[in-house]
This record gives sequence, structure tokens and C-alpha cells, in this order.
Amino acid sequence: MSTPADAQRMEKIVSLCKRRGFIFQSSEIYGGLNGLWDYGPLGVELKRNLKNYWWRVTVHERDDVVGMDGAILTHREVLKASGHVEGFSDPMIDCRTCKAHFRFDQLIEKKGVKQCPNCGGKDLTDARQFNLMFETHVGAAADESSIAYLRPETAQSIFVQFKNSLEVSRKKLPFGIAQIGKAFRNEINPRNFTFRSREFEQMELEYFCRAEEGMKLLEYWKEERLKFYENIGIPREKLHVKTVSDEERAFYSKGTYDIEYDFPFGQQELEGVAYRTDYDLSQHQKASGKSLEYFDEVTKQRFIPHVVEPSAGVDRTVLALICEGYAEDQAPDEKGKMETRLVLRFHPRMAPIKCGIFPLLKNNEGLVAKAKEVVDLLRPHMFVFYDESGAIGRRYRRQDEIGTPFCVTVDFETLGEKDEKLRDTVTLRERDSMKQERIAISDLLAALSVRIA
Ligand code: GAP
Repeated sequence: MSTPADAQRMEKIVSLCKRRGFIFQSSEIYGGLNGLWDYGPLGVELKRNLKNYWWRVTVHERDDVVGMDGAILTHREVLKASGHVEGFSDPMIDCRTCKAHFRFDQLIEKKGVKQCPNCGGKDLTDARQFNLMFETHVGAAADESSIAYLRPETAQSIFVQFKNSLEVSRKKLPFGIAQIGKAFRNEINPRNFTFRSREFEQMELEYFCRAEEGMKLLEYWKEERLKFYENIGIPREKLHVKTVSDEERAFYSKGTYDIEYDFPFGQQELEGVAYRTDYDLSQHQKASGKSLEYFDEVTKQRFIPHVVEPSAGVDRTVLALICEGYAEDQAPDEKGKMETRLVLRFHPRMAPIKCGIFPLLKNNEGLVAKAKEVVDLLRPHMFVFYDESGAIGRRYRRQDEIGTPFCVTVDFETLGEKDEKLRDTVTLRERDSMKQERIAISDLLAALSVRIA
């Protein structure tokens, strides 16, 4: 259950996201487009760090996974075969009093009577199925034959390219095909900031296997995915694994887990890990008339592989990282008086900017030149930010608020003016503990690289 304090926390998070350039309402100057968001200068870095880390551990650090990047516009027949044209819909209700539209499961019920969650009205239409796919036309003719869809999940292009990917990669079962990319759903009620959007990104892996390996691999991937979240700074105790019941599960799935996170607005899904059996490949083989079988050279058998699918949302994970990182604590100001500090405690691996670099004074040539040398040293290896304006304490606060894990200050000791032994050393300040250590510039790159890897 979320409390008024949680709602207030969420409001502060949304406001910080806009103020510091993480996330903006899309088309804001025209009044905004509901359910669509733009990532600003810092949001795009955070998102990229997340996607790059997922790609690294899912594709680059494994021998059994290859990547792909499929088209967004999708052939109608693909989505007919997958069942999306017929069945990818939510039951929708209109409130005749306030004219709002809702998913059936969002209605509130009082004394057995369904009511509008917006105005409490009881004059509601019957539920009708609303297909969530965005339809468009490819080419000049806008008729039945030119209908295509913006993909509602990245998975289908992986299934459709299964044979090509298998042949070029020469992988043996079990092996996976990974993809990160946009997906589109015309959600009836986009809500909770970016949590339920109409355009979002997914990080999906289709891990193909023999039928007898399916259930074991479902467990394996659930554990791998939990480890992933811990490695990006989401603690295990904030994650929950929900076993999706037989009634809720897709009819072709033999087992599905939802990995959920404690958002300020409640415990909600971050990712689904599903054992989809051989349903998708079988459907595409049937509809296309092309063989999608795997040939086992040892047993000389041909069969359609089964698949286990961990499917994560990029935007939901970015939102979880921001919610998890957001903190208010106490820190001394310039005069040593305690004040409230706003800080995003991102894991250094995810932080948009890795290191802030400051000359103690902006009008001292020696300090500025040395600080710029440090920038040149680190910049090829990580995203750094040079800042010379304002008191040092203010500069630290600005970096704390955007989650920069380290700051380096170049002072008179760096120039050897106080103690020759301290020449070419700087202070390295850590965001969470606010501890400062003196470190040689020549050791800086190695010290930071291990901490942000
Ligand atoms: N291929 C399987 C699939 O698409 P899904 O549970 O519908 O399964 C997977 O979606 C993930 O995509 C979700 O766990 C969520 O993280 C993300 N996702 C789905 N719909 C979303 C939406 N409207 N806005 C943001 N993320 C969404």
C-alpha cells in the first residue's frame, strides 16, 4: 500500500527528473502528449548505462547469446501469427458521467457496484475489447493490404529471424538471441510517470532450448535476472518474485515469473520471465510455411526449439533506479551548519556522470590548467563534468543531486604550494559517505575505473 508520504516522494522525484534533465514530458510546449516521455541530457546517459550493462552481461560476457536489432514496423502476418492482431487487447470501459476511459480492472467496487475511479459515477458502458497495437500503412496506398503495426514487443522479430540468426552464428542449443529496442502500446490509461507509457524500450532475450530443459532454464534465468538488478544497485529485499498463476498466465506458457519492485506507488512489475514453450516458432512456421526447425547433428532429429524469455523494461528499470537512488540526508554547508542534502545514490556503474572535476578557484590560472589536465586524463575513459562556478560545497551539492559518485578538487596543494610532497595530488570525494582522500593524479584513473566498472 502506498501512503501520502510515498505520493509526496514520487512528486519530488518527478520534479527532480524535470529540473535536472532526466525526463521531460514529450511535446511539452504544445501541452504534452499523454503517455510519452523524452529523456534529457542526464536521462539519456542513465538509460544508456543500463542498456550497455544489460548488453554486456547478456551478450558480450556469454558464449551462448548473439544480438540483433529488428525493424519497428512489423508485417501484419507476423502479428497475426503471434496472436497479437486477434488477442492483444484490454477490456475497456467508458464513464458516461465524466467521459473518462478505463481498463476494466481499474474500476473500483463499492458494495458490489462498479464505479468510475475518477468521479465515482456508476453510469458505465459495457466492456469492449480495445486492441493495444498502433496501426499504420506502409507505402502510398492506405488500404487493407498496406496495414502494418508498430511492434508491441521486440520478441517477434527475434522469432521471425530465428533461422537466419541460427545459421550465421552456428550456435547449438541452448542458445539465445538478445535485443534492445522500442515497443509501442496504445495503453488505455498511461500512468505512474514513465511506468506505463505508450512508447517504451524493452531488453529481451529469447533463450532457445530443448523441451526437457525449459523448466530448469526458467529457474536459471529468474536467478540471473535477480542478480542483474542487484548489480545495478537495486537491493534484493526491494525485489519480489511473483509466480504468475495458471489463470493469469498466457495459455501457451508453462511457467511465468514476474519480477516486481517496491516503487513509491506500490509493488509493480519490472520484468517477466516466461517459459513460452515452442508456441511462437510453431505459429510462425505454420503461418509462413517456412521451416523453423533445429537439426540436432548428434541425434539426427529435427524439432522446433522451446524458449525461455526474460523480458525487461528499460524505462521501468530507469524509474526504479531513480526511485531507489533518491534520498534526502543531512550534510554540513560551507559554514559547517547542517542542511538537507538531496542525493541520488546511483550505483557508480549506472551514474550518468562518473566524476566532477573542480579547480578550487576559477580565477587562478594554475588551478584551472591543472583541473583541465585531469579532465583530459579521464575523459577518454568515462563521462566527466568540469565545473568552476560557485563555492566548492555548492558544486558538490549539484553533483550529489544528479548522482555523480566522485568529485575531484584541484587545490593549492596540487600545485605544490603548501607541501612539495603533495604536488600533483588531488582530493577525491565520495558522494554517499562524503569522505575525502588525497590521491596522486597518476593513480586517479585506475582508482576510478575499478569503482565504475
Ligand atoms: N515479450 C514479452 C513481453 O512483452 P510484457 O510483460 O508485456 O512481456 C515486458 O512486457 C516488459 O516490458 C514489462 O515487464 C515491462 O517492464 C515492460 N513494459 C510493458 N508494457 C509497458 C508499458 N506500457 N510501459 C513501460 N514498460 C512496459
